[in-house]
Amino acid sequence: MPGGLQWMKEQAELNSGVKQEETTQVGDLYNRIGEPAFRKLSVIFYDKVYSDEEWFKDIFKGKDKESAIQNQCEFFMQRMGGPSLYSDRKGNQTLISRHKGWRVDKPAAERWLSLMTQSLEDIGDDIDPESKEVMLKFFKHTAYLLVAAKEVMHSNKPEAEKTDVVKPGGKDIILAKDPSA
Ligand code: HEM
Repeated sequence: MPGGLQWMKEQAELNSGVKQEETTQVGDLYNRIGEPAFRKLSVIFYDKVYSDEEWFKDIFKGKDKESAIQNQCEFFMQRMGGPSLYSDRKGNQTLISRHKGWRVDKPAAERWLSLMTQSLEDIGDDIDPESKEVMLKFFKHTAYLLVAAKEVMHSNKPEAEKTDVVKPGGKDIILAKDPSA
């Protein structure tokens, strides 16, 4: 039965195969990797997201790509030991609440992780292999923490409200696609 934060962390560990403690290793990556590589990674990732036929196409339709890149790259830099550009600009809301309106289930997490894994490959030597491994562990754990958080939110909702919109205000595109169906 979905529970609180402890339950979410256990689920994240179970589904990602990454222990919570391992995610702290990202803390010094900013100094190792540097800002240009972070930005490049987010550009490569969102190029894939925006041309993704399988999952993300409908979710990001009409959303500004530059802002998505900036949000992600500033968040990653801050989370990995860099300046607080992200929270200075956007406040301290958690990643969980920032994903509230979006459908984040296991297939979504797998797709997100698959595109990010490909992006880390595409970036080549701009990020060293060990840093890539540490980043990927953090991404996996976080993706499944978001999935678990969503399950908790849904378990507290009446049946009729369990579907997330894929775009704000997009009543007609509720669950545009369900790859698990
Ligand atoms: C698990 C599947 C995931 C899905 C379906 C998903 C989906 C989304 C969507 C639709 C947005 C909104 C984009 C926008 O408003 O511009 C977003 C934003 C964001 N996502 Fe995810 N995401 C996922 C996983 C992750 C993970 C694993 C991370 C970090 C490790 C992450 C970090 C972010 C950040 C930093 C933002 C920007 C939030 C903001 O500033 O408003 N996401 N995501």
